[in-house]
Amino acid sequence: MTTRTVTNLDSFSGTILIPVFETYSKSIVPIAFNGLEIASNVFFGKKDTHYLAEKNDNTYVFIGLGKTINYKSLKTIFRRISSKQKENFSSNVALVIPEQCIEEQVEAMVSGLLLGTYNLGHFKSEKQEHPFLNPEFTLNLVSENDYLAAAKKGIKIAKAQLSTFNLVDLPPNTINPKYLANWAKETGEKYGFDVEVLGYEASKIVGLGAFLAVGKGSENEPQFIIMNYTPVTEVKHMKHVGLVGKGITFDTGGINIKTAGMVHMKCDMAGGGAVFGAMQLIADLQLPVKVTAIVPCAENAVDGKSFLPSDVIHSYSGHSIEIIDTDAEGRLVLADGLSYLIKNFKPEYIVDIATLTGSSVATLGYECAALFTNNVEMAKKLQENGDSIGERLWPLPLWDVYKSDIESDIADVKNYSGKPVAGAISAAKFLEYFTKEHKAWAHLDVAGVAFGDDEFAKSKHATAFGVHLLTKFIENL
Ligand code: BES
Ligand code: MG
Ligand code: ZN
Repeated sequence: MTTRTVTNLDSFSGTILIPVFETYSKSIVPIAFNGLEIASNVFFGKKDTHYLAEKNDNTYVFIGLGKTINYKSLKTIFRRISSKQKENFSSNVALVIPEQCIEEQVEAMVSGLLLGTYNLGHFKSEKQEHPFLNPEFTLNLVSENDYLAAAKKGIKIAKAQLSTFNLVDLPPNTINPKYLANWAKETGEKYGFDVEVLGYEASKIVGLGAFLAVGKGSENEPQFIIMNYTPVTEVKHMKHVGLVGKGITFDTGGINIKTAGMVHMKCDMAGGGAVFGAMQLIADLQLPVKVTAIVPCAENAVDGKSFLPSDVIHSYSGHSIEIIDTDAEGRLVLADGLSYLIKNFKPEYIVDIATLTGSSVATLGYECAALFTNNVEMAKKLQENGDSIGERLWPLPLWDVYKSDIESDIADVKNYSGKPVAGAISAAKFLEYFTKEHKAWAHLDVAGVAFGDDEFAKSKHATAFGVHLLTKFIENL
């Protein structure tokens, strides 16, 4: 794929995309471009509309943006055009950049175009190839200004999000912990970060007891994946960020087997998927920050060897945990992920991301993720970065009055309050217990936003929520 800037379309042949801001509805002045005129009662730039025309073997796609448009809508509009108009597209595309466009808008448009190539039909016998995936594909930015850097960034963002789409949408008989470990190694090699993987034996030796308890019932060996990124060029006073992502490749609930929604539980590694995508993107962008990321990967299966409700297990931190419910497994693998990260790497900032509780979905629905942190500055930065790209977060409390929910009689803590209330909060309080009062830790419960319904498929599928958010947060620290 080639991206370049052109100042005119004189000898261009291919698909020409013309984003149009709505100036005034149904004006008597038609929209004119390159000798083509569209009557304004047919198309006047209204948001979510488009108009197709053919002239001199070129296909023109006029794309309505409305009067103003935010990052996410712009990206979605371009994803829609790319995904639903692909038969009208050639592999030579010109994007006519409106005069008042800012860099982030070009980034969003180009990202959207590339995301539109995603095809959920991974195992269909007949594959439909998107013209943009042709190695000859050329994107011509038509402008007097230089938007090349913005476009290239948009491409990197989309590539990372596409990686996460694949990891989350592929089924659990493909995406098992070993697959994720191999993916991390290959991607680390390609983009530039180090990867270390602790399998069963190594995890046992170092004492990752909470992590191993969850994976015990599965035929698929758990893999504790540790990634380390440092920029190629030396940076003075480099910040160090730690990321932890829940990597449950399938959550049956374990012995407390799920009675509802189990079919969607291949999404239970979507927090880990976001961390994987973010690592790819951070390295691809060569951000001047040190990042250590951990994704504990395991399958929560039902078997004679599965861990049991009422078991007492021994976590990496040295604290014992009473298992009340084997379906509250995410917090167990995260507890070991967080303890391992803090003890061995001591990052300045920590963000964990997980499809952790149904309770967060019941509370906030599908529009935003739940944010937990005691650090006001971090909350602000995470929310601001999220708002700017449409990956929204909303805070829930971490008050100590909720601590009684995890107090156990037999062990240091228990993994579930046993009560059908405040589930997202008590899960967060459980994680907090393993953060050793770290001053800059935030937890994102993305159960409602990582996997969902939209116009791009008939069934729920990955959103890559967190890939761009984590990267942007780190970029703007
Ligand atoms: N993986 C689920 C949470 C989830 C729910 C993810 C919906 C995506 C969509 C998690 O492991 C879980 O089972 N949580 C239980 C905890 C309960 C048993 C304390 C829940 O939220 O019901
Ligand atoms: Mg569960
Ligand atoms: Zn789970």
